[in-house]
Amino acid sequence: MNWLLNALTSTIGRKILMALTGIFLILFLVVHLAGNLQLLKGDGGVSFNLYSEFMGHNPLIQTISIANFALILTHIVVSLVLTQRNRKARPVQYAFVDNSSTWSSRNMGILGTIILLFLVFHLQAFYFPAKTGRLSEVTIDGVIVENMYEATVAAFTQWWIVLLYVVSMVGLGFHLWHGFQSAFRTLGIDHPKYFPFIKWFGKAFSILIPLGFAIIPVYMFVTHQ
Ligand code: HEM
Repeated sequence: MNWLLNALTSTIGRKILMALTGIFLILFLVVHLAGNLQLLKGDGGVSFNLYSEFMGHNPLIQTISIANFALILTHIVVSLVLTQRNRKARPVQYAFVDNSSTWSSRNMGILGTIILLFLVFHLQAFYFPAKTGRLSEVTIDGVIVENMYEATVAAFTQWWIVLLYVVSMVGLGFHLWHGFQSAFRTLGIDHPKYFPFIKWFGKAFSILIPLGFAIIPVYMFVTHQ
């Protein structure tokens, strides 16, 4: 067990942990977006409410949810430890910025903080009300379910919340722009033959996924006036 602890607490071990948790969170984003896109269906929230009810009560999903929170926490804590280490190793900043680095790669900490602040807001708006029984209920096909759709309409009909989501998704996009390819490079998946594709895919992903999330509040704002 000692070798595992040593591996995980070494700098390279921490980088690998960042990469693995990052890739899991990338997968979470895909599933989460696919579910939330049901808000665009225009069926008065029927599909979205049924989906939310399933996600909120299925025991397997609940277990994955706990793992998800643990991974988010690990990703944040390890990033803070790595940053602290880098600062100690290099107390004076470089006078010249490496031209090959991108704006995203130099500002991963700030971008991560934007996403964290977004998450705090997001969870108090949707997750905690669901977990503490503060949502109203609606009957669909004779079954009583929590009305998560109503909560999303209440949030996304306020312009400042829509703006907050759009700005946060720009931050998420920049974070993924560097993070996606960086995770694969850290794991050694950087063969010259395949890496250009991974880089291209990562860039497309970092535009399309945040765009998909941003469209939802904008669409709901426009269609609920
Ligand atoms: C329009 C955009 C989004 C909508 C409408 C949305 C909606 C929701 C809803 C309704 C829940 C509560 C689910 C439940 O407990 O039943 C939730 C949970 C959550 N959302 Fe979002 N979400 C959006 C974007 C995002 C983004 C961009 C992220 C990450 C950066 C995110 C991260 C999370 C997390 C971590 C949870 C807790 C999930 C869990 O149980 O593991 N969401 N979201």
